[in-house]
Amino acid sequence: VAFTAVSNVLGTINPVTQIIKAIREINPGVIVVVDAAQAAPHTGIDVQLWDADFIVLSAHKMLGPTGVGVLWGKNTHLEQMRPVQYGGEMVLQVKIEDSTFKELPHKLEAGTPNIAGVIAFKEAIKYIENLDIKSIREHEKELTQYAIAKLHQNFGEKITIIGTKNPDLRAGILSFSFDSLHSHDIAQLLDEKNIAVRAGHHCTMPLHNHLNLTSSTRASFYIYTTKEDVDCLIDGLRHVTNTLSK
Ligand SMILES: Cc1ncc(COP(=O)(O)O)c(C=O)c1O
Repeated sequence: VAFTAVSNVLGTINPVTQIIKAIREINPGVIVVVDAAQAAPHTGIDVQLWDADFIVLSAHKMLGPTGVGVLWGKNTHLEQMRPVQYGGEMVLQVKIEDSTFKELPHKLEAGTPNIAGVIAFKEAIKYIENLDIKSIREHEKELTQYAIAKLHQNFGEKITIIGTKNPDLRAGILSFSFDSLHSHDIAQLLDEKNIAVRAGHHCTMPLHNHLNLTSSTRASFYIYTTKEDVDCLIDGLRHVTNTLSK
C-alpha cells in the first residue's frame, strides 16, 4: 500500500501512524510505502513512530536542489532487494558466471552519485532544522486560517476550497476552484500580477475525478510567505473574477 502523508492538493495531514497500524491489522504482510514529499518540509516526519516499510521524499520540496531525494527503507527489506541499476562502487566481485555486490547502501547506489546535490540537500535540511519544523508549522497554520477566512469573505459561494477547512488538519497548501473559471485562466491572470500559483490536476487525476473537478488552482505557503502575500492573492483573484466575468 502506498499513500501520502500530506496531500499536495488537499493539504490534508494524514494520521500516518494510525493508517499503518490499521493496514497491518488487516494484513501484517503488506509493504507500506509513505510519500513524505510534502510532509518533510511542512509538518516533519517521524520514521520511528510511523513504522513504515519505505518512506520517500524529494530535496526540491525542502528548499534543496532538484534531482535528489531520499528513499528510506527498513534494513530487512533493503537487504533482500537485488540491484535494479548497475554502476561503479557497488560491486564486490565480478565473474563471467555471476557477480556479488557490496553491503548496503552501496549495492543499491550504483554509479557516481549526485555528490553536489546531496551536500546541498544536507544544508537545506540543516536550515529547516534550525528554523524548527514546529515554528514552520505554526506559521503555515496561521496563514492558512487567514487565507481561508479571506477567500470566503471575498468570494463567498463562488469559490470552493478543496479539503478540510480546519487549519489544524492541513498544511500550507490551498487548492480551490471557481465554478465557471478554468484554473489555467486564473493562473495566467494571476501571473500578470506576479502571483505564482499552480493550475491543473497537480499529478492527481483520480482525486480530481473523485471530486468531479477537471482541475484546480493551488496556492502554496512556506516560510517566506506573509499575510501581505495572501492579501495580494485576494486582490489578484478579484482582478481575475472581474476580468473573466465580463
Ligand atoms: C506528495 C508528492 N509526491 C511526489 C511528488 C513528486 O516529486 P518529484 O518531482 O521529486 O518526483 C510531489 C510533487 O511533485 C508531491 O507533492
